[in-house]
Amino acid sequence: MKKFAILTSGGDAPGMNACIRACVRSAINNGCEIYGIDRGYAGLVKGDIFQMDTKSVCDIIQRGGTILKTARCLEFKDPAVRKAAAENLRKHDIEGLIVIGGDGSFTGAKYFSDETGINVVGIPGTIDNDLAYTDYTLGFDTAVNTVLWAINNLRDTMTSHDRISLVKVMGRSCGDIALYSGICGGAEYILVPEIPYDIQKIANDIKINRERGKTSSVIVLAEGAGNENEIKTIIQLLTGADLKITILGHIQRGGSPSMQDRMLAARFGVRAVEIMLEGKTNRVIGIKQNEIIDQDITEAMALKKEINKQLYDMAKELC
Ligand code: ADP
Ligand code: F6P
Repeated sequence: MKKFAILTSGGDAPGMNACIRACVRSAINNGCEIYGIDRGYAGLVKGDIFQMDTKSVCDIIQRGGTILKTARCLEFKDPAVRKAAAENLRKHDIEGLIVIGGDGSFTGAKYFSDETGINVVGIPGTIDNDLAYTDYTLGFDTAVNTVLWAINNLRDTMTSHDRISLVKVMGRSCGDIALYSGICGGAEYILVPEIPYDIQKIANDIKINRERGKTSSVIVLAEGAGNENEIKTIIQLLTGADLKITILGHIQRGGSPSMQDRMLAARFGVRAVEIMLEGKTNRVIGIKQNEIIDQDITEAMALKKEINKQLYDMAKELC
């Protein structure tokens, strides 16, 4: 395996650039040619493929986003489109593809490899941390730190005004951003999609606490765990308190990657190139108990991500 390509796909995540840098530098140092593909599978389909060198990845380790850009490409779900896309790689004699993305990107990569014989290796890049086979995905740590910055600022003003802060964070089906930022930001309530909650009970708790003198609190709400306006109405009605909603949105997806994400990016990138050189396909890279691992894509995707119940219970105890 001497020539391979790299793309970023799905939602961008801080650390993707640091990981592209690691893949490119490691490939070149191992005597390989490496090619970049613009805008994920969309660029693969269009044939936007260009050779990269060590200079192509200068001055990007600290930048959020992805220099290769990313896209959602629905036509890649069509086998005929994937076949045509493989021809674009063959024109350059490219035999392998590194995909940095989430579960959708990995599924596309698996089909692509099975149908075309092009070797694929996946690197988990998503702020959601929603892949069960790995403890962490690239971008999660930075996103949680951004949420923490926001919670700290919100606390200052909410406490001064005896208000309640409802902070809505990303995570449609996975509550990890809410859980980790809630624990580390000292949130009083953490609402995640995986665990049902009773909003009337929460409102009642807040009311009792207010009567005892605790006049301000922070609630972290994951995107998929309920409607912020409905929650606000119930809490205000039952407690008489003033509640302010803050939706952090895409602010969580940007920014300079944290130390953890840069380290993960370097370790994932180097391992992905090793796997390419070994001539393996359909592997995804991950981290388990601080060891870099690789696993078959199908096996990895079959695992169901669950919330860390121990951490969730600990959060409740500390609040
Ligand atoms: P993520 O990789 O972050 O989960 P998406 O689910 O949007 O993000 O997937 C990214 C891209 O991967 C899609 O735009 C599409 O090009 C490709 N993809 C997703 N699911 C499939 C599938 N079932 N078959 C082929 N390609 C897919
Ligand atoms: O998968 C990452 C993510 O940021 C999710 O947390 C969020 O639900 C979604 O992407 C938002 O996607 P888009 O940027 O396409 O609106």
